[in-house]
Amino acid sequence: MRLKRMSASNFCQHRELTVEFPPGITGILGPNGVGKSNAIKAVRFALIGDSGNAGTKVDDLNWQAAAAGESGAVELVFEQSGTEGKIKRFVNNARASLKFGEIKANSVSAVNRHMGTILGIPERTLKDIVFVMQGAIESILFERPADRAKKFQGLFGTESAERLRDFLLQEVNKLPTADVDERVERLQKELDVDVDPPLRELTKKQASVAAALKGFDRDAREAVIAKFETAVQIGQQLTELNERIIMLTTNVTPEVAHVAELQQQADDAEKETSQLTSRADEARAKLSNLDAARRAHETYEQLRGEAEKLEDVLRQPVPMSPGIDREKLEAGFEALHSMKVTLEPKRSFVETFKGGQGTVQCPTCLQDVHEADQLAAQFEAEVAQKTTEFAAVDQQLREGSSALVEYERDVELDCARKDTARERLQSVHGTLSTLGVTTYDGAEAGALQIVVDDFSGKLMVLKNVRDELSRLQVELARKKSECRTLEERQCSLREQLQDRPTADQYKRAKDGLEMVASAEAELGNIEGQLYQLRNRRGAILKELELLKQQTEKTEAVKKYKDLCERARTLFHRDCLPLTVTRAFLASLNVKIQEYLTLFGAPFSCQIKDDLTVSCNFPGGGEQSAERLSGGQRVVLGIAFRFAVYQLFAADLGFMVLDEPTAFLDDDRVQSVVEVMQSVRRYVHQTGMQLIVVTHEVELVAAFDHTVRL
Ligand SMILES: Nc1ncnc2c1ncn2[C@@H]1O[C@H](COP(=O)(O)OP(=O)(O)O)[C@@H](O)[C@H]1O
Ligand SMILES: [Mg+2]
Repeated sequence: MRLKRMSASNFCQHRELTVEFPPGITGILGPNGVGKSNAIKAVRFALIGDSGNAGTKVDDLNWQAAAAGESGAVELVFEQSGTEGKIKRFVNNARASLKFGEIKANSVSAVNRHMGTILGIPERTLKDIVFVMQGAIESILFERPADRAKKFQGLFGTESAERLRDFLLQEVNKLPTADVDERVERLQKELDVDVDPPLRELTKKQASVAAALKGFDRDAREAVIAKFETAVQIGQQLTELNERIIMLTTNVTPEVAHVAELQQQADDAEKETSQLTSRADEARAKLSNLDAARRAHETYEQLRGEAEKLEDVLRQPVPMSPGIDREKLEAGFEALHSMKVTLEPKRSFVETFKGGQGTVQCPTCLQDVHEADQLAAQFEAEVAQKTTEFAAVDQQLREGSSALVEYERDVELDCARKDTARERLQSVHGTLSTLGVTTYDGAEAGALQIVVDDFSGKLMVLKNVRDELSRLQVELARKKSECRTLEERQCSLREQLQDRPTADQYKRAKDGLEMVASAEAELGNIEGQLYQLRNRRGAILKELELLKQQTEKTEAVKKYKDLCERARTLFHRDCLPLTVTRAFLASLNVKIQEYLTLFGAPFSCQIKDDLTVSCNFPGGGEQSAERLSGGQRVVLGIAFRFAVYQLFAADLGFMVLDEPTAFLDDDRVQSVVEVMQSVRRYVHQTGMQLIVVTHEVELVAAFDHTVRL
């Protein structure tokens, strides 16, 4: 594969970045942190869609300042076997597309599937050998021996043999060990002794009982039995009917006699009552007359009493006169009034002149008086005295007046009461004179009432006798009709009794059925036992089948176990992994040597079976790689990187060298510059594509094309 152009947007710190990859060495140059490695990461993301760092999510590749919902994307144009391809992935890994010749894919999974085929090397090789930081791969050579072994295992893939061995051990431990044979023997014995022989015997017995039951006419026998039993029931019913009829007819005689007796009683009572009727009517008429007389007598007595009370009222004395003459009383009032009037001039004089001086005319004598206030004082005394006197007279007159009013009212009331009494008395006397003096004979009324009551009693007796008579007659009629119905039923039952089976026929039918029932019960019992035995047989056969399968499985398991054991031995660290490691190491050592020669290194190198790395210098002397100088280490590191690439990933066609000069001081950098010239020649010779990422400006001379970031 050859990379042609990578365009990234919103990827890590790159808003927009396009890197062209012409043939030969492309150098990506720039200060630390500018985004060189991230540009390579973008290529890697386009190819396999991963984040490039353990513990980093793909999402983290999105430019941190990108707007929400805006996803970074990488587009990579490449060429594979003369066909151009274009792959585009979005950082949120929601979408991806690929176009490669005829192939077109538009989903992440489809793109991944196709890319796996197009790349042609395992994804893991791509990660561990092509895109790995140079420092990380170099370190394998200079690690502590124990860690080195692990890294070589990873590189050579022998770690999977180790894992496989552990897995096989677990599997072997899980395999079942079954004691099948003993169970098979036990089940077979049960089948041969307890199941099959009784099954055969019972089947035979079942056939013989079934044959005996064949041809037995059950219906005919059941019919005989049913008929016989019905006849017995009918016989019972007939006996009951007979008893009932006898009871109805024998009890009827006294009842008939009783009816006749009652009839006689009813006739007698009727005769007697008809004789008594006129006497009773007469007594009732008299009684009603007597009743009227009693009521008139009671009215008369009431009115008499009332008349006496009214006469008492009339006899009451008239009210006593107070001895006051109305005319005199009114004249007194008038005289008092005129005296009060005569006093008025003096009173007004007092009001006007009280405390006054000078001469005034006297209102009574009409003479001039010189000392008005004296006269006023005199008049005042006089007015006061007269007023007291007038008040006493006025009081007396008023008392007399009210006594007179009371008297007149009493007289009026008395007159009215006596007038009413007189009027009522007159009307009472009128009524009394029309009633005349009435008398009432209670004894006669009593005698008459007895006659009437006696008659009513007799009528009641007659009614009772008649009621009883009609009740008995109805009862007798009911009994007769019942007797008739019963007799009819007897006739129909007797008809049913014709052609009844004999007791002997009945007994034979019954015995036959009993015999069949016991045969059937036996058959049922046999069938039950057969059912159980067959079930058990089925279960045993099933279990035997299972055990047989299990035996087969156990055989397979045994083989599998054997295989596992052998595979485990094979995969043991001392066996297959060692073989593989040795084989890889042989090839790797040849390759390393080739590159060291290519780079003009003054030493050779060999990785031994125990994974120690030893270097040989021409003047003799062997030393371990850790002892090499910084510059020599870089040369060995690059040779090792190319050797590994050649061994495992040469088919890919391109390689990335990220920071080959990391942690080197200047003179050592110089040795890298020199090596890179050899690398350049090699790259041009082989046609492989190399991308070098570096912050070291001096390496630019070795690049065919430089991208500055
Ligand atoms: N998603 C991202 N958005 C913005 N910057 C990022 C993002 N991921 C990594 N970076 C920045 O990239 C820088 C490292 O870039 P890198 O390519 O490794 O540098 P160098 O050029 O030394 O190889 C870090 O400083 C980090 O802040
Ligand atoms: Mg870097």
